[in-house]
Amino acid sequence: MDKPKVVLGVSGGIAAYKACELLRRLTESGHDVRVVPTASALHFVGAATWSALSGHPVSTEVWDDVHEVPHVRIGQHADLVIVAPATADMLAKAAHGLADDLLTNTLLTARCPVVFAPAMHTEMWEHPATQENVATLRRRGAVVIEPAVGRLTGVDTGKGRLPEPAEIFEVCRRVLARGVTEPDLVGRHVVVSAGGTREPLDPVRFLGNRSSGKQGYALARTAAARGARVTLIAANTGLPDPAGVDVVPVGTAVQLREAVLKAAADADAVVMAAAVADFRPETYAAGKIKKKDDQEPEPIVLVRNPDILAEISADRARPGQVVVGFAAETDDVLANGRTKLRRKGCDLLVVNEVGERKTFGSEENEAVVLGADGSETPVPHGPKEALAETVWDLVAERLS
Ligand code: CTP
Repeated sequence: MDKPKVVLGVSGGIAAYKACELLRRLTESGHDVRVVPTASALHFVGAATWSALSGHPVSTEVWDDVHEVPHVRIGQHADLVIVAPATADMLAKAAHGLADDLLTNTLLTARCPVVFAPAMHTEMWEHPATQENVATLRRRGAVVIEPAVGRLTGVDTGKGRLPEPAEIFEVCRRVLARGVTEPDLVGRHVVVSAGGTREPLDPVRFLGNRSSGKQGYALARTAAARGARVTLIAANTGLPDPAGVDVVPVGTAVQLREAVLKAAADADAVVMAAAVADFRPETYAAGKIKKKDDQEPEPIVLVRNPDILAEISADRARPGQVVVGFAAETDDVLANGRTKLRRKGCDLLVVNEVGERKTFGSEENEAVVLGADGSETPVPHGPKEALAETVWDLVAERLS
């Protein structure tokens, strides 16, 4: 089979050096990558680096190898175009269809999915001109990854950082896997909770669970790759932030509830993939609980935590909001799942069978997605991102 053909466009920002790492990941995972830098990108990373890492010649203008008509061929043959970093100038040119160098020509001739990973100073990102250009590109079907928040060039920090190359690579992989399908979650805001809550007993101890957060992160990544604005409420996961996703870290069930309710206020869909503790210790000891040799241990008294899924299902923040829950069951999986779906009042419930064989923290999953409309969608054993795609397919159906 031919290797998937990827065009890596690089525009002139300091984050161009990070694109070398993205290029390496793409080539090492079996993609044929053609790098098309702009002339200003070469101020940051030279043509020799791009050529050596990609194994292809590199040019910035349409005047090299004219007999091969590169300004048309490169775009026509691509399976994916990723522009990283995309400067404010590049977004403006792409939004307006300018074609004054090889990369902008390639963007006009490509009929494959196009991903932009912008990087610039916060002021430039927030400027209405840039925001309108981004909206135009998204409306036309491009995936524009939200920049990360953090250290920028010089002493500045804020929104505008290029997300980590490993995470941009994940977006590329997912967009490539879906092919030329329209990014169907463009303009949607989705909220995903992930991980497991921890209920503190004292400053050093807590009651927790083994949820890794991987399924929730797969949901966040796939939604971002399908064009959604994603808020990920992450409970104790320790996983790297997915590209283009707003991550809100939380600890306890009460904090998770607050964060979910706040983010859900303007959300089109909420997916509760987090394992929420049903109970928390009634009291919290401000100092470490000490053992006393002559005394039996004190019993731990538990109180109920709020049921967040039931609450957001019963009281939808906006009409038509789609609410999805997860349930892990050991016996009578489907019957218990149906009962839970009704009890929680959500639209979809992803039911997993758990047992000794099926461990937490694995890369794979197998489930049935039950719909409040009586539907039943089995998802065979496979990567967590495949299950995530099915969940978003079902959510998108209900949103449209
Ligand atoms: N959930 C929640 N708030 C809670 C507990 C659970 O929002 N306090 C959500 C989880 O995020 C998940 C779904 O509810 O999406 C199912 O959780 P589960 O623990 O299976 O449901 P329970 O109501 O606790 O049922 P069980 O008695 O089987 O534990």
